[in-house]
Amino acid sequence: MTTTPTTPVLPLPARHSGGCPFDPPPPYSEAAATGPVTRAKLPDGDLCWMVTGFAEVRTVLSDRRFSADIRHPAFPLLVAGAREELITDNPDFLRLDDPEHARQRRMVTGEFLVKRVEALRPEIQRIVDEALDRMTAGRTTADLVTDFALPVPSLVICLLLGVPYEDHDRFQSLSRTMLNRESTVEQLREAQEGVLGYLRDLTARKRAQPEDDVLSRLAARDDLTPEDVAAMGVLLLVAGHETTANMISLSTALLLEHPEQIPGLADPATLPGAVEELLRLLTIVHTGLPRVALEDVELGGVTVRAGEGVMAMLSTANRDEAVFGGAGHRATDELDLYRDARRQLAFGFGVHQCLGQPLARAELQIALETLFRRLPGLRPAGEREFRTESFIYGMRSLPVTW
Ligand code: HEM
Repeated sequence: MTTTPTTPVLPLPARHSGGCPFDPPPPYSEAAATGPVTRAKLPDGDLCWMVTGFAEVRTVLSDRRFSADIRHPAFPLLVAGAREELITDNPDFLRLDDPEHARQRRMVTGEFLVKRVEALRPEIQRIVDEALDRMTAGRTTADLVTDFALPVPSLVICLLLGVPYEDHDRFQSLSRTMLNRESTVEQLREAQEGVLGYLRDLTARKRAQPEDDVLSRLAARDDLTPEDVAAMGVLLLVAGHETTANMISLSTALLLEHPEQIPGLADPATLPGAVEELLRLLTIVHTGLPRVALEDVELGGVTVRAGEGVMAMLSTANRDEAVFGGAGHRATDELDLYRDARRQLAFGFGVHQCLGQPLARAELQIALETLFRRLPGLRPAGEREFRTESFIYGMRSLPVTW
């Protein structure tokens, strides 16, 4: 076993420059072609391991020898200078290990269970239908991102959390700054404080006047500090709308390039599988999931030493031919709505696997089925723009007509 780099060291995060906009940045796939674990360099200059193979990514995300605790001094960070300036003593549970991670996650698990989300479907359908009514009223063109893909998940998560939707402009622009890898540390700190401050005030109001929503229930607990509740609120609010919104717009843009596959959405028997395939191929968390090794671990032919950072690249793992390819199916870098993509890793894997995945699935299924059923003539109507500067890949605009 060796820790000697055998391939060039790739600076992270890689940029999208040309090529197919639905693919991860080419340097990630190029690294994957050389082996499942390669060397990469973080913006601060520290080396880390980039893990691109399906089996190895699952190991990193499920093996307790890899930590998700952002307070670890060697935790890999994708923004230079962030360690000194941005890491708080009070991270949200996405960036904590068990048992504290599990303790906090359990407090909200019930809110996002499949059964709970299934009961929400009529409400999500209503939100989707109303967004389409507004988008199509008296006009024949729209920007699918601002008129549909963004408002739908934003309205849903606001409703669940009990966040007034009138405030969405404010927290949306702050969360954009937080997710923008080109933001300066100063901008990131301001945005982080802005969203936390907003959630702190809201939580205080919910404690005084509880309503039937997630934030009110969290605010009423005496085993969470107000800081914990605010951090959890930010996580749910940001994770709950930016991700799903970008999946809706990217999926629509991709399907418009493959109209022959759109009927795969119309049949309730194939719709869930079609959404898994879109999640697999688009894997919007291009930059990978950060972890740090707590012990030496043999992984994909190298020794990852205790204290070394690791980035688990979901996008390359999700294109593994051995897992998702096979006779009768298109290559894994192509869309095939009839492929069995159930093992896809777009929601991560292991104890931090996406808490909101039942909700995201329901939103995607309802939004995409309804969009293409109600607007069968939907087609592009101008220059589309991708969001390449964000930690969550997506679209800035998608002009459409019908
Ligand atoms: C298509 C949409 C979505 C995608 C692709 C996605 C992706 C992910 C991924 C990859 C992780 C794992 C991060 C890690 O292990 O480091 C994660 C965690 C998480 N997601 Fe999502 N997500 C989506 C939608 C949502 C929604 C709608 C919510 C709603 C609240 C949500 C809430 C969370 C939370 C709370 C975590 C942290 C879980 C933990 O640490 O235990 N996500 N998500």
